[in-house]
Amino acid sequence: MPDLPSADSNATILLVDDSEDVLDGLGAILMQTYPRIMRALSGEAALETMASIAVDLVITDLSMPGMDGIELLRRIKESWPETMVIVITGFGSIETAVEAMRQGAYHYVAKPFRAEEILIIVEYALQRLSLEREVQSLRRRLVDEDRFAGIIAKSPKMLALFEFIRKVAPTDAPVLIRGESGTGKELVARAVHSESSRSKERFLGINAAALPEQLLEAELFGYRKGAFTGAQHDKEGLLSSACGGSVFLDEIGRMPMSCQAKLLRAIEEREVMPVGGLDAQEIDVRFISATNADVLKDIRTDLYYRLSVMEVTIPPLRSRMEDVPMLATHFAEEYRLRFNKGPMRLGASAVAALMEYDWPGNVRELENTIQRAVVMSPHEEITADDIGVRQRPQGHDFGGGAPVTYAEGKDRALGSFQRQYVSAMLERTGGNISRAARLSGITRAAFYSIMKKAGFQRPSRYRRMS
Ligand SMILES: Nc1ncnc2c1ncn2[C@@H]1O[C@H](COP(=O)(O)OP(=O)(O)OP(=O)(O)O)[C@@H](O)[C@H]1O
Ligand SMILES: [Mg+2]
Repeated sequence: MPDLPSADSNATILLVDDSEDVLDGLGAILMQTYPRIMRALSGEAALETMASIAVDLVITDLSMPGMDGIELLRRIKESWPETMVIVITGFGSIETAVEAMRQGAYHYVAKPFRAEEILIIVEYALQRLSLEREVQSLRRRLVDEDRFAGIIAKSPKMLALFEFIRKVAPTDAPVLIRGESGTGKELVARAVHSESSRSKERFLGINAAALPEQLLEAELFGYRKGAFTGAQHDKEGLLSSACGGSVFLDEIGRMPMSCQAKLLRAIEEREVMPVGGLDAQEIDVRFISATNADVLKDIRTDLYYRLSVMEVTIPPLRSRMEDVPMLATHFAEEYRLRFNKGPMRLGASAVAALMEYDWPGNVRELENTIQRAVVMSPHEEITADDIGVRQRPQGHDFGGGAPVTYAEGKDRALGSFQRQYVSAMLERTGGNISRAARLSGITRAAFYSIMKKAGFQRPSRYRRMS
């Protein structure tokens, strides 16, 4: 249980009373602990103040000429429901105090009041306010948790990646994103940009593998008229036209050497020399690069160090299978809308099939698979037949590729056994967990826990989509 948040001594408190003496008295009591005190001599004046300044707590007298305290309270709750209100009631007017509480006042204080009484009630009110704000921000984070700048995921690995982006984006540090094809490198690069202070400026990308060397250079650094045959006028390069924004260098590992040298110079000097030009141009960009996991051997070490100040690897989809149902549901909904299809849902057998596959093409392959299924399926329910992913060979290959520790190998084998077993049982029982557990000879709780570990959700969550 976290500690209760404390009362915020920076809180802005507005005192409302038609008597200057009362305002002076209240102010004197509170001033020491809460220096940000404002005063208003009427309800109307209080509302005016609140319209221009954020007020955390209002302490108001109930009986005032013009707008009375109850009416002021009502208006405050209408426009600033968060603001705490404490009312001060005259001697013996308990009914109005009750009415004020009913209208949303936090508490009341009866005249004549004592200093400690006021201080304690104010402290509680402000504590309550901090708590409510904390709850609200937690709730907001919960809602956003499985979606971050368009990236959908719920696995701990990806939530850690969201955290990384949140931390790194606001710094201007170069970010290198690694990951297999289709894991979402470009998506992450865009997220870094959109969470940064450069988000209002441009995000310009270039794929180092897609262009022949000379064109790539021309694109990146620009050229001057006459620099080569066909250069009929000056052309600004990507690095200078992204001024103030971010440049995304995709497939950086495949960038030709001469280009790497020029890029390194541009980063170090913060300026570029257009092809055929004599005068350098200053650049102000943030570098975000991406590369497939294993093509780094062709990149100059010095350039690598410059670009990888912050480095992150997006885990392959097969290592975070718990993201699959959520992604599949998202893509199904997206393509259903895009292709103007009626209500559609992913059936249990479809999800089971998705969970059995190991997705060498990662999220892109999953997206394409679902798109195809949405287009092809004549029914409301997408089934395993519509999915049609080929089951990969069962065995585990530990011979090739990077060496795998015993523990990792065992985890992987156990994980894939659990996925296959659970999905077979769920398929047999049409998604009925209790029956699947009975067939498996284990308790429902044990089955459910294996199911969760294997990345399955409760069927009801993926079966109903609309
Ligand atoms: N977590 C995710 N949530 C939603 N969509 C995703 C996610 N990850 C990837 N995608 C989608 O999958 C597709 C591939 O993503 P992206 O192009 O970012 O991958 P990549 O790593 O750059 O692939 P490549 O190495 O092939 O260029 C895109 O359509 C992207 O929107
Ligand atoms: Mg890409």
